[in-house]
Amino acid sequence: MRVGIVSGHNIPEITEGFEEISVETRFGKIDLLIGEYRNKEVVFLNRHQGRLPPHRINYLANVEAMKLSKVDSIFSFGTVGSLNPNIRPGFLVIPDDFIDFTKNRRYSFFDDSRTHIDMSDPFCPYLRKVLIDTCKELEVDFCDRGVYLSTEGPRLETKAEIRLFSNYADIVGMTLVPEVVLAREKEMCYGAICLVCNMASGIQGSLSAEEIKRFFNEKKKIVSDILGLAISKIEDKRDCRCREALKEARL
Ligand code: HPA
Repeated sequence: MRVGIVSGHNIPEITEGFEEISVETRFGKIDLLIGEYRNKEVVFLNRHQGRLPPHRINYLANVEAMKLSKVDSIFSFGTVGSLNPNIRPGFLVIPDDFIDFTKNRRYSFFDDSRTHIDMSDPFCPYLRKVLIDTCKELEVDFCDRGVYLSTEGPRLETKAEIRLFSNYADIVGMTLVPEVVLAREKEMCYGAICLVCNMASGIQGSLSAEEIKRFFNEKKKIVSDILGLAISKIEDKRDCRCREALKEARL
């Protein structure tokens, strides 16, 4: 079993001493860090590869590189804004569903066959449980469910968009989709944990990228603590169906 972490930020507390490797995929070359953490083999991927904004991330290459590196379980981390007045900055959210408002990405590995994976439960229930148990143990403020709405970016949202989105979703970010979908297409378990850095633009007034970054830097220790403990808890045996996602997906 190899555990993957896909994050928008480097997490040196976990990857210290890891080896840098490059993986050639059909979609491009991806740089990863690989090593051992708390007796688990871990592969770390910075989804931005150091420079790419959300709308230009090579999601296909990222997920394929994880699969080629024998990763079978992915913990994903990203920052988000909150649309829900009960979910305040500093909260961690473990989403249980998503809405896709992206516009111009590649969404599937299956361009030449009619393959339709089931998304009625997009996040692995086992990895969600590991993340929930971890947050309870660390006594952090967290929400054990939430709908993540993914925008295309890179711009932040308008007030009218936030009014619309807040009827249907709890948090807003730019990078979860199509990553979560592609992981399922590769039959990998995928669970996400999101750090709320701000109330969404239309709710808190103006919003700057610098503010999001400043907030993340203040809170990043808790993120590495959660991911570190979650890695130590994960076991190979599980009762989810992620590993057979393609079984009934083909027409
Ligand atoms: N919107 C989109 N992405 C984000 C936000 C936001 O308010 N905060 C952090 N990432």
